[in-house]
Amino acid sequence: MPALRDLRLAALVLAPAGLVACAAMTAMPEPSEGAALFAENCAGCHGSGGRGDGPLAGDLTPPPPDLTTISARSGGTFPRAEVLSTIDGYTRGDKAQGPDMPEFGLLLRGETVPVDTGDGIMSPVPRPLAAILFHLESIQK
Ligand code: HEC
Repeated sequence: MPALRDLRLAALVLAPAGLVACAAMTAMPEPSEGAALFAENCAGCHGSGGRGDGPLAGDLTPPPPDLTTISARSGGTFPRAEVLSTIDGYTRGDKAQGPDMPEFGLLLRGETVPVDTGDGIMSPVPRPLAAILFHLESIQK
C-alpha cells in the first residue's frame, strides 16, 4: 500500500512544520507580558506606571525619566529602535552621567520575535525585550 505509506511520510514531514508554525504564531508577546516584566525589573526606579516615580527614583541622579512621554518628546512617534537600544544597554557607553540604569542585555536574551523597529524591516528581537517595548509603546500619553 504505497499510498498509505506516503500519507504517513507526509504526516511525519508536515507535523513538525505545523508545530513550528504554531510556535511562531504564539510567539508574539502581548503588552501585558511586558507589563509583568516591567513590574519586576523596571518599576523600582521608573514607577509601576512608568512615570519616573519608583521607590528608588529619589536616589538617582539623573532621575529616571517619565517613560509615558517618550513619544511626546520624540515628535509624536515612538522611537522603537532607540528605546530598544537604551533598554538593551547598547547605548550605555554614550552616557556620562552618574548612577545609571543597569544593563538588561543578558536578562533579555532568548527566543527572538520579528519586530519592525521603525525602518520597515523586521528585525529579530529577544522576546522579553519586545514585550517590554510593546508595553512601553502602550503606555504613551
Ligand atoms: C536602577 C534604576 C533603574 C532601573 C531598574 C531601570 N531604569 Fe530605566 N532609567 C533609569 C535612569 C536613571 C534613566 C535615565 C538615565 C539614563 O538614561 O541612563 C533611565 C532611562 C530609561 C530610558 C530612556 C528614557 C528616555 O526618555 O530617554 C528607558 C526607555 C528606560 N530607562 C527603560 C527601562 C526599562 C524598560 C527598565 C526595565 C527593564 C528600566 N528602565 C530599569 C533608571 C532605571
